Amino acid sequence: MAERLRFGIIGCGVIGPTHAEAISSVPEARLVAVADLAPERANKLAGTYGVTPYSDIGAMLRDEQLDVVDVCTPSGLHGAHACQVMRSGRHVIVEKPMEITRAAMDEMLRVQADTGVKLAVISQHRFDPASQQAHDLVTDGALGRLVLGNAHIPWWRAQQYYDSGAWRGTWELDGGGVLMNQSIHSIDVLQWMMGPVRTVYAYTDTLAHRMETEDVAVAVLRFTSGALGTIAATTGAYPGVTTRIDVFGDKGSAVIEDDRMGYLHLARDDQGEVGAYGMGAKDRAQAAPAPEKGGATAADPAALSSTTHAVQIADMIRAIREDGTPLVDGHAARHPVEIILAVYESARTGKEVSLS
Ligand SMILES: NC(=O)c1ccc[n+]([C@@H]2O[C@H](COP(=O)([O-])OP(=O)(O)OC[C@H]3O[C@@H](n4cnc5c(N)ncnc54)[C@H](O)[C@@H]3O)[C@@H](O)[C@H]2O)c1
Repeated sequence: MAERLRFGIIGCGVIGPTHAEAISSVPEARLVAVADLAPERANKLAGTYGVTPYSDIGAMLRDEQLDVVDVCTPSGLHGAHACQVMRSGRHVIVEKPMEITRAAMDEMLRVQADTGVKLAVISQHRFDPASQQAHDLVTDGALGRLVLGNAHIPWWRAQQYYDSGAWRGTWELDGGGVLMNQSIHSIDVLQWMMGPVRTVYAYTDTLAHRMETEDVAVAVLRFTSGALGTIAATTGAYPGVTTRIDVFGDKGSAVIEDDRMGYLHLARDDQGEVGAYGMGAKDRAQAAPAPEKGGATAADPAALSSTTHAVQIADMIRAIREDGTPLVDGHAARHPVEIILAVYESARTGKEVSLS
């Protein structure tokens, strides 16, 4: 295998350039070609990196020697494009969500099993140091018995964001609204910490935008472990406020705020008992001052840093070289989509939904 793996990108819109930057920053990777139906987008990105532009995916796959292809097209096209890449014998990295229907995810897993290539799905916030630290602590049992896990995503997207692409906010190609598009990151990290979700009860609505899908959602979760949880998400919270993931257990608490550890307290580090009433509010405030404002992507999707994408691309290269499994493979990436589909079903039917 070549010393540097040769990468291609399909889709050169908002997130395609983040992949190009990330690939270029990984020493073992080299970007060689990009494709977009819109030739001006492919040409612009190709020009920036001195690579070959294509307006046809088939032509890129036929004419270029590629090891890995990143799929950065609208969410409801991920399955078709990923399968096309896998059938051409290349490894594939798919943007989140893996896909928007169970049937499409089934097909991706089937094609992957048939072709034997690697399939990774972007969930870059699993690679944030705070997520890795919290996950390690949960795995070690340092938080004790988990009782409550919450994901709060009070973001802002202006109407012009939804108007900027015909696919945005549609059932057919976005597969949902604030949950399937923006909140899937936090929902994935939450379920990675808390374990599988057993049941969901939810409300969703569309209150601040002209769009087909939801811009606000709340859900109550029961995890398989017995722990409870909540999701509260919107793209109607101007100007976009702190994203928070809480993981609470009877031996410790971790609160991730805007991808950083905002609060961490473990019983194992205490000199003595905290007492029957726990820590006072004053001590809590001193334990870890909260970041002051919402993260950049809470307000602007294009403000995304490529760093954690680069870490995930490096994880894929490791998996390819070792013939191992990427941290977020197709089986792992399916879980947050299944939770979101269950939320939609509950909101639609007014009933609790079980995930099998
Ligand atoms: N990981 C993250 O933080 C993150 C951030 C933004 C977007 N995303 C995901 O990335 C995907 C793309 O989002 P975006 O905001 O970049 O969308 P976008 O509309 O800006 O870009 C999508 C591009 O795909 C191209 N395209 C569509 N069909 C094509 C085809 N058949 N062949 C070639 N090109 C085609 C379009 O012309 C467009 O340029 C979505 O699934 C989204 O959820 C992830």
